[in-house]
Amino acid sequence: MVQYAVNLENISFSYENHTVIKDLSLQVEPGEHIGIVGDSGCGKSTLLKILAGLYAPDRGTAVIAGEHLPGEIRKQVALVMQNNSLFPLSIRDNITCGHNYPDEMVWAACQNASLVKWIETLPDGLDTNVGERGNQVSGGQAQRIQIARALCKNASIILLDEPVSALDPDTGHSVLEALCNLTDGRTVIHVTHHQETLDDRYTIYRMEGGKMIRE
Ligand SMILES: Nc1ncnc2c1ncn2[C@@H]1O[C@H](COP(=O)(O)OP(=O)(O)OP(=O)(O)O)[C@@H](O)[C@H]1O
Ligand SMILES: [Mg+2]
Repeated sequence: MVQYAVNLENISFSYENHTVIKDLSLQVEPGEHIGIVGDSGCGKSTLLKILAGLYAPDRGTAVIAGEHLPGEIRKQVALVMQNNSLFPLSIRDNITCGHNYPDEMVWAACQNASLVKWIETLPDGLDTNVGERGNQVSGGQAQRIQIARALCKNASIILLDEPVSALDPDTGHSVLEALCNLTDGRTVIHVTHHQETLDDRYTIYRMEGGKMIRE
């Protein structure tokens, strides 16, 4: 029997009385790459938050990396969000999240997230504070910091919510490339409005009416 990386069975989720996900099922095998497209507001980010263990479905079952409990699911996944989700701490702390990773590992992640050139221009380097909700860094820098965080966390499942939306095309391309190399062999679920940025390793689903439709 396959142990799915992600097994969603008939899940539903509502914000108060607004139902966003209806009876949705999705099975993802380990190492599979899934792309999710769909109109703005159709529920893609909500679905990723369930996959990340940030929300629990109202109905149905969600088993992620073999875990049922949101607290356990959170340990197994790395999430790069659409909106800025940095802590008011240093760049280093935002990448390590309190783990004692060696410097070489942090710099390697920065390299793969195209952060090094920028960090080298900062007087305090990795120890620069990003400000309240990351207001002292640009949207693109904040996204790359989250990508570096995801690269350091040795998670088996990578969840990406428009990870390159705030990057200029050149930087976006190099970060996507780095992500591709480093996500190889891991399970990836990538939400995007730019399907053309997903290579042929991706199986594409469209989210519509609270369900997933294979493209
Ligand atoms: N915290 C919240 N409370 C109440 N409603 C919410 C909340 N977050 C999202 N919604 C609503 O749920 C629906 C789905 O939102 P979601 O953010 O999942 O969409 P999305 O597909 O990610 O859209 P986009 O492509 O614009 O990022 C929207 O109608 C949105 O207004
Ligand atoms: Mg979204």
